[in-house]
Amino acid sequence: MSIVYLNGQFLARNEAKLSVDERGFFFGDGVYEVTRVVRGRLFEWDRHARRLARGLKELRIDAGLDLDTIRSLQERLIRENNLVEGQGTVYLQITRGAAPRTHHFPPAGTPATVFLSAAPFVPASDVRARGVAVTTYPDYRWSRCDLKTVNLLPAVMAKQFASDNDAFESIFVREAVITEGSHTNVFGVIDGVVRTYPNSNYILPGVTRDVVIELAHASGIPVSETPIYRHEIALLEECFLTGTTSDVMPVVSIDGKMVGTGKPGSLTMRLYEALASRLAEAAAQPSPASAVV
Ligand code: PDD
Repeated sequence: MSIVYLNGQFLARNEAKLSVDERGFFFGDGVYEVTRVVRGRLFEWDRHARRLARGLKELRIDAGLDLDTIRSLQERLIRENNLVEGQGTVYLQITRGAAPRTHHFPPAGTPATVFLSAAPFVPASDVRARGVAVTTYPDYRWSRCDLKTVNLLPAVMAKQFASDNDAFESIFVREAVITEGSHTNVFGVIDGVVRTYPNSNYILPGVTRDVVIELAHASGIPVSETPIYRHEIALLEECFLTGTTSDVMPVVSIDGKMVGTGKPGSLTMRLYEALASRLAEAAAQPSPASAVV
């Protein structure tokens, strides 16, 4: 039985209970983060923390905890779940709390709901070696996709469409342009240039996306934050997804049509290797300071 954190307590998962007045349940009124854990270290924590802080501020949610405390809670949860060796993920969700259902904010002083869980994680190496199929799906999400909210119904529908079609992921298309995947960012290579949708209100500023762009610059791989149009899909030499639980995942077909040679591309695999080295470096960092909470 895993250990979770809920509103000030570390509990066995089956003992953690939420109120039926929870605003996350009624409205999806909250934000979340999924952070990778390598040998007990939180990978790229600062980037996740910045995104979390921005989301909370934009949505005017007071977590009631500062970022350092959140980090200490995450680190304790890693220990509680024996994830100090090997790999894992930590899930964090902060909502506007529990209060009688009104669309407007609950009374001042209503505490946020803070939930954390941790689980072992095994990278999908076999799948990566072959590459994955993806489907396209209409991007009917709202215009604040830059906020990592728990309103994930379009992502649920898109990913189910992928599953129904034996695909790994659906990639969203908004006005003839590929924006991102249901839970990944999307990159494509055309004329040797790695392209991805620019950071804006139409995509999540993915942590892995940022790291991969940085790695491309460092490796001398040309990269441009330029949208890929639907009609350019046929021109893709390579395509890949990035995300905390996908790393760099080669895409070998889109809507049943082969991408490039139908095998993971060479720039894609170079970027995957660079990311794998970055993960290995993080794993080699000194262990986090001992218990604060
Ligand atoms: N999803 N785009 C969307 C819509 C996402 O939900 C995610 C992450 C990403 C990739 O972001 P990052 O590299 O920071 O993980 C892009 C998480 C993993 C999830 O919902 O489980």
